[in-house]
Amino acid sequence: MQILVIGRGGREHAIVWALSKSPKISKLFCAPGNGGIAGLAECVPITELQFEEISTFAKEQAIDLVMVAPDDPLAAGLVDHLESKGIAAFGPRANAAIIEGSKVFMKQLLKKYSIPTAAYESFDAYEPALAYLRSQTAPIVIKADGLAAGKGVTVAQTMEEAEAALKDIMVGQVFGASAGASVVIEEFLTGQEMSLLAFVDGSTVRLMVPSQDHKPVFDNDKGPNTGGMGTYSPLPHIPESIVQEALVNIVQPTADAMVAEGRPFKGVLYAGLILTPNGVKTIEFNARFGDPETQVILPRLQTDLLDIFLAINNGTLSEQPIEWSEQAAVCVIVASPGYPGPYPKGLPITGLDQVQDALVFHAGTAVDENGQIVTNGGRVLGITGLGKDIVEARQKAYADADRIHFEGKHYRTDIAMKALR
Ligand code: AMP
Ligand code: GLY
Repeated sequence: MQILVIGRGGREHAIVWALSKSPKISKLFCAPGNGGIAGLAECVPITELQFEEISTFAKEQAIDLVMVAPDDPLAAGLVDHLESKGIAAFGPRANAAIIEGSKVFMKQLLKKYSIPTAAYESFDAYEPALAYLRSQTAPIVIKADGLAAGKGVTVAQTMEEAEAALKDIMVGQVFGASAGASVVIEEFLTGQEMSLLAFVDGSTVRLMVPSQDHKPVFDNDKGPNTGGMGTYSPLPHIPESIVQEALVNIVQPTADAMVAEGRPFKGVLYAGLILTPNGVKTIEFNARFGDPETQVILPRLQTDLLDIFLAINNGTLSEQPIEWSEQAAVCVIVASPGYPGPYPKGLPITGLDQVQDALVFHAGTAVDENGQIVTNGGRVLGITGLGKDIVEARQKAYADADRIHFEGKHYRTDIAMKALR
């Protein structure tokens, strides 16, 4: 089979890497891909929202399946577009991807079906939102309705911060007019977070191994939020009973609710959960693989990933064997100087040939005109160490993160420490 993966980050590198092991695949393409993906797939200079170019390319190359990895093209209906052209695609249709694309939709769905989540109110006008906010107390959480590249959420410690965030979203429209047309104002919850991803085919839910992300840029969860500075799996300090609670109370009922709403979800459903003293609650749903969760989940998958994608598309997921290794995986993100603020691009990366044990997933790299791999994004590389336990996997990830250099590189030094304290 010939497969085209849509996207360009570390997640897509991990997906392409996992697919490259499938004996069923004769040729892999990635649009647009990156400097690391280019070693495993033919990168095509078409971007994620160029729907006509993607479908024309898929027809010309007789692509058997287009795997749509990122949130933007899913929310904008790339899967629907491809299907309308008779091209097989993996991922939810737009009417199901809305579970990520609209936080107001997600919150209303969970409320309607009594699925545990933070208490909230939503608003589509600034004045009533402000009046409600002023009746609350900090800390409080303000969320732009639409996609905002992972930056639409403010966990406000003071009311000033909360009012500023609300104003930025609804008046300043810093995430765009559409993403900021509505807001969710919700209760602040405390507890450890867990990313629970599942393969979903309508009402069949098959959990992946749990993982944990580190969103703030600095050690000890300090500094502004990023797309994710590192992940690990498994979570030895979180009992299996909690994962089962999340499946039974949250993930399965949500898949069932989507079917009941006439929006069956087919693809990867990502539940962002928080383990509160009052039980597991939902923080967010994503309609796709997480980044950088995928960089620790797929290295533990022992089943052909393509077989799982095909089973979902054929409606046979319940019969599909899915095996996971007992190994632990830790991914350390190496970021550009300045990230998550403005950062330079084009810095030469050295030492990639010195890497010993870890898997190196490129997130923001490019190959320059001299064939040199250079930085090309905020999150540059994800270094995944594998080992018999978290301690060994961490050592391997950090040892290889130290073998790679570019000017001003930075990473968190405490990835996975929550499992070891
Ligand atoms: P999201 O983009 O929805 O994943 O939110 C980003 C981060 O904000 C989450 O990973 C949490 O750490 C935090 N967050 C979101 N909602 C809440 C909440 N209701 N209470 C506490 N923290 C939250
Ligand atoms: N790691 C967070 C996300 O993929 O949304």
